[in-house]
Amino acid sequence: MTKIKCLNPIANIGLDLFTDNYEMTDNFDEADAVLVRSAVMHDMEMPASLKAIARAGAGVNNIPLEDCAKKGIVVFNTPGANANGVKELVLAGMFLASRDIIGSNKWVADNKDDENIAKTAEKAKKNFAGTELAGKKLGVIGLGAIGVKVANAATHLGMEVLGYDPYISIAGAWNLSRNVKHISNVEDIYKECDFITIHVPLLDSTKGMINEEAISMMKDGAVVLNYARDILVDEEAMGKALKAGKIKHYMTDFANPTVADMEGAIVTTHIGASTEESEDNCAVMAVNEVMDFIENGNVKNSVNYPNVDMGIPSKAGRVTIMHKNIPNMVSQFTAVFASENINISEMTDKSKGEFAYMILDLDTPASASCIENLEKLEGVIKVRVIK
Ligand SMILES: NC(=O)c1ccc[n+]([C@@H]2O[C@H](COP(=O)([O-])OP(=O)(O)OC[C@H]3O[C@@H](n4cnc5c(N)ncnc54)[C@H](O)[C@@H]3O)[C@@H](O)[C@H]2O)c1
Repeated sequence: MTKIKCLNPIANIGLDLFTDNYEMTDNFDEADAVLVRSAVMHDMEMPASLKAIARAGAGVNNIPLEDCAKKGIVVFNTPGANANGVKELVLAGMFLASRDIIGSNKWVADNKDDENIAKTAEKAKKNFAGTELAGKKLGVIGLGAIGVKVANAATHLGMEVLGYDPYISIAGAWNLSRNVKHISNVEDIYKECDFITIHVPLLDSTKGMINEEAISMMKDGAVVLNYARDILVDEEAMGKALKAGKIKHYMTDFANPTVADMEGAIVTTHIGASTEESEDNCAVMAVNEVMDFIENGNVKNSVNYPNVDMGIPSKAGRVTIMHKNIPNMVSQFTAVFASENINISEMTDKSKGEFAYMILDLDTPASASCIENLEKLEGVIKVRVIK
């Protein structure tokens, strides 16, 4: 029986996928796999039984990735599972920046005791006039899971969309609407667009990418949307640009002391992925990743081990080996199987940084002595017999 521990509430639509071979446990120390959202795991002593941690979400800074890799614990996340939730919030951000829904609604609340509010509202409405999105230019920086969805949706709103991503994946390119103009110089977005939205990961190369220089190139009255990470934007420079009227609105999902009271900033509380559907999608993806790893040894969407997928085992035996990414490992593994006359029918070995993962399909099941000999090899972290 495989024991699953949830460190945070995980949506039932995901947990219901576990078959009778799995049971939930309250005891972390006996868990084979852990499902987690925001619980901080850095100070937790990982039990020897633990094989996998799945984060229902994208960010994994609450998990000690390298430590887990050294102990042979695969850490998964659920990339793209919340992309639609974020996309819809970005669209809402564009609408809120164009139509003064917030100001208009506040006026109604402020005038709630006015018996003639129906009439006075008609007079007040001119103060809350806006503009439409159709016909405006949107620049999308980063065409991954979220950026592609935002770009495609905006084309259906009648916007002209420019996309920039020098590292676009094949999936990203396939999914991108052909109505999105793929540009190769991000400055074209700064100079031409009425709305600019960023969907890049936080890296040394992207930190502060929307800086004073980038803002100075933007059209007067441009709107900047940041539903990715706050420090991608130089928010001091953004505050000055808002005050000067250079930027009309800064839409951000990251409340912090700099933007909380910033004139022209419309700030939310990191709610991009806070939808029932995103949480359901993350739970389903996390549970499927854990089950595929436990039952078949396949690794998909890991952040500390390479992705290796050999499907469902069809041969007599399957063994997986987590090992250090150092010379001469594979030849030693094959020698162990050869010494017992076990034929390897198929194998895949991939590395990610210091760590590597191998799946071997065998024509006869691996013997206990074979597994013992593999475990003895210098550089081997964990050996599992799947079949
Ligand atoms: N607000 C929220 O609640 C919320 C939720 C989920 C994700 N996010 C943020 O959104 C970001 C994007 O998420 P995603 O799922 O689309 O990620 P993703 O990995 O699918 O896409 C990121 C894209 O950015 C591109 N990129 C990297 N460096 C670039 C650069 N310098 N210029 C242009 N493009 C570059 C990559 O090639 C990739 O296509 C995440 O990193 C995360 O910080 C926020």
